Amino acid sequence: MEIRVGAADDVRREGCRVVDVAGRPVGIISVGASFFAVADRCPHMGASMCAGSLSGTMLPSEPQEHEYGMDQRVLRCPWHGWEFDLETGRSLLEPRRYGLKTYEVTEDEGELVLHL
Ligand code: FES
Repeated sequence: MEIRVGAADDVRREGCRVVDVAGRPVGIISVGASFFAVADRCPHMGASMCAGSLSGTMLPSEPQEHEYGMDQRVLRCPWHGWEFDLETGRSLLEPRRYGLKTYEVTEDEGELVLHL
């Protein structure tokens, strides 16, 4: 099933757009030239992930070393700060236990298409 969610340029300007998919909110998130789609309900207490922020995180590294990575790939919940990998949807802290469902989103002649 495919859903057309609007002009890619509009979503790029908005940064994130929530669309209703059979009663479930899905967030279409713009990052540079790419788009990602994730369930828009945090698995902790249900906050809208579209109201969250994007950043990177400190990566595992050797003692005394500090390595920043995953820039603009970490989606942080606005309520209590749980963080998720935007590409996989998995929680950074407990990836086996928590995650956001992810969806494929493509661009077709300037319009975004969500694939379910
Ligand atoms: S609702 Fe998202 S971390 Fe609590």
